[in-house]
Amino acid sequence: MIYTLPKLSYDYSALEPHIDALTMQIHHSKHHATYIDNLNKALEKAPQLSEKSLEELLLLGEKLPADVKVAILNNGGGHINHSFFWESMSPTPSKPSERLQKSIADGFGTWDEFQAQFAQAGLTRFGSGWAWLVCHNNSKELSIISTPNQENPLQTGHTPILGVDVWEHAYYLHYQNRRADYIAAWWNIVDWDRVENRLAEALTS
Ligand SMILES: [Fe+2]
Repeated sequence: MIYTLPKLSYDYSALEPHIDALTMQIHHSKHHATYIDNLNKALEKAPQLSEKSLEELLLLGEKLPADVKVAILNNGGGHINHSFFWESMSPTPSKPSERLQKSIADGFGTWDEFQAQFAQAGLTRFGSGWAWLVCHNNSKELSIISTPNQENPLQTGHTPILGVDVWEHAYYLHYQNRRADYIAAWWNIVDWDRVENRLAEALTS
């Protein structure tokens, strides 16, 4: 399996002023593309893994061959996380429906509490990583977690519903050290229809 960089459904400038065009261009065409190149290079060295899906590779974790384990986990995670991230955003985002707001408020008390906890998870992730709204695969409970580097919630038995990239490469050109301002602005471009569909799928799978 050779992985390729997914095309975005919007222009690099389409998420301005919340995310600037140069950040989007570098993030997608350089950072994400490099994860894919490095993932493909690692898989060339391990042809016995060629039939596995990306999710299966990440779930293998420590069982991956030692010489490609770190490369597959870091770059495979980078590919899956970024693909998910681009699809979480829209230049013409829908508002969260009443049904979605109720589902989320049931898990966190209120919608505002959900947003506050999510933002806090992103803000307090030390170094590089992600903040996520996730659905536990067995209990179906919603929770907010953060993961370091390019780890994905599927590696801890969760289905990601929404995730924000808090690596500095996601915001530094425009926001410099102001990660909180980046997260606050990011809410304006979340595609809530996509979030609602992911949640519905997670709850019924
Ligand atoms: Fe990123």
